Amino acid sequence: MNEISTIFATVLSRIKPTGEEKTRLAALAQTIIGRIDALGKKEGFDISARLVGSSARGTWLSGEHDLDIFIMFSPEAERDYLEEKGLYIARKIAGQAEKWEERYAEHPYIYAIFDGYEVDLVPAFSVRSAADIKSAVDRTPFHNAYVKSKITGLEDEVLLLKQFLKGIGVYGSELKTHGFSGYLAELLVIHYGSFTGVLEAASNLVPGTTIDIEKHGNVAHKDPLVVIDPTDPARNVAAALSLDNMCIFIDKAREFLKDPTEDYFRAQAPQPLENDEFKNAMSSRETNLVALVFAVPDIVEDVLFPQLRKLEDSVREMFEKYDFRVYNSGVWADEIAVVMFELESARLPCAKRHTGPQVWFGEHAFAFKSKYKDSKTFSNVFIRNGKYMVEIPRKYTDAKRFLESEVLKCGLWKHVALSIKKDYRVLENDEILEVMDEEFRMFLRKFFEK
Ligand code: UTP
Ligand code: MN
Repeated sequence: MNEISTIFATVLSRIKPTGEEKTRLAALAQTIIGRIDALGKKEGFDISARLVGSSARGTWLSGEHDLDIFIMFSPEAERDYLEEKGLYIARKIAGQAEKWEERYAEHPYIYAIFDGYEVDLVPAFSVRSAADIKSAVDRTPFHNAYVKSKITGLEDEVLLLKQFLKGIGVYGSELKTHGFSGYLAELLVIHYGSFTGVLEAASNLVPGTTIDIEKHGNVAHKDPLVVIDPTDPARNVAAALSLDNMCIFIDKAREFLKDPTEDYFRAQAPQPLENDEFKNAMSSRETNLVALVFAVPDIVEDVLFPQLRKLEDSVREMFEKYDFRVYNSGVWADEIAVVMFELESARLPCAKRHTGPQVWFGEHAFAFKSKYKDSKTFSNVFIRNGKYMVEIPRKYTDAKRFLESEVLKCGLWKHVALSIKKDYRVLENDEILEVMDEEFRMFLRKFFEK
């Protein structure tokens, strides 16, 4: 036990914001909020700005300079009005930033850098309750109020949990990660009372578990973990969490409780895979790699990643349909996207057994037989288990060629489809080493070593 508290103390000394850091952050937040409110007054808009998110709750990790500032509009305001005026205000404020850009979630907001801090300026409706939201971001102020009312004295526990989740690679509810959001980490700590309490509960967690702190859930959810939002009975805060990330958490919680070390709190980026390591892996595994490469469309990651995963699933299905067995697959994206498949074999024999109807289905049986009687086949039409069969040449014996010709026929979503239509390449085995990007090489190591 002593050992574990030493670990916590060491980790906290690294991740807990210092007094100076807190003062600087609070001062910057006040300055920006003051400017927004003053501008609102000057222009005659009924708005008020406020700080939300982990920086308002004392649950942000040291070194992370992220401020979520909401520009609150009356709930009676029209959506178009909020978007137009909200952006107008946010742009004017961002004019004083080092740099800024417009981003898009459910509605547009501004991302800006002030004094090295990443600041989101988000217009939202100040609705009466989280059940009346007009836009997803409207919930955030309610989360803020709830967490603030419960979290006093538990802040360090939240920091430990967030850092642990980062260390094991499952922090972040974005659609790229499918992990735990900051709010979810806070709720788990509130529910179980401490970081260790959360890990103990996690080590016995099973999919289908529901945690309903306020005992007011009123909708059935099918997600692996259900944590009913204390501010909205219909919402699952853990909706983005994937089964596998939940299981990674269970697994690592057990390991840590058994043999705690500080390593769990350090996110370790994998080493980039070198060319010779890649070649060794390929020749010893005796599998084949086929990768589809194309330019990443100009869209946010939350839109991009679901489209890449959809592409991955469609191609995988198509491979299987044509008898290529997919052993493993994955997606990576930066400026280019790589959707990669490891196949048991990238070559199939030319002969393929083609199954026809049962012999006693008169009309179909007749049609099948006459179709294959004179066509170029490896065999006569024959009968097995009551069905007609014939051995014919396979259309695609080579996975690379197959993907090159068929990719546009598989299920694709909009932006990815447009980009692939413009241009794409299929790389096979060693050709994949043409992609030199360090981050891609890290992805390759994870692809093999998991
Ligand atoms: P952030 O992603 O900045 O999270 O979203 P955070 O709680 O501040 O945590 P860190 O420390 O920066 O990682 C700001 C707020 O938006 C809401 C939450 O209320 C959160 O506090 N939010 C965000 C959600 O409800 N769900 C999400 O998936 C993301
Ligand atoms: Mn935040």
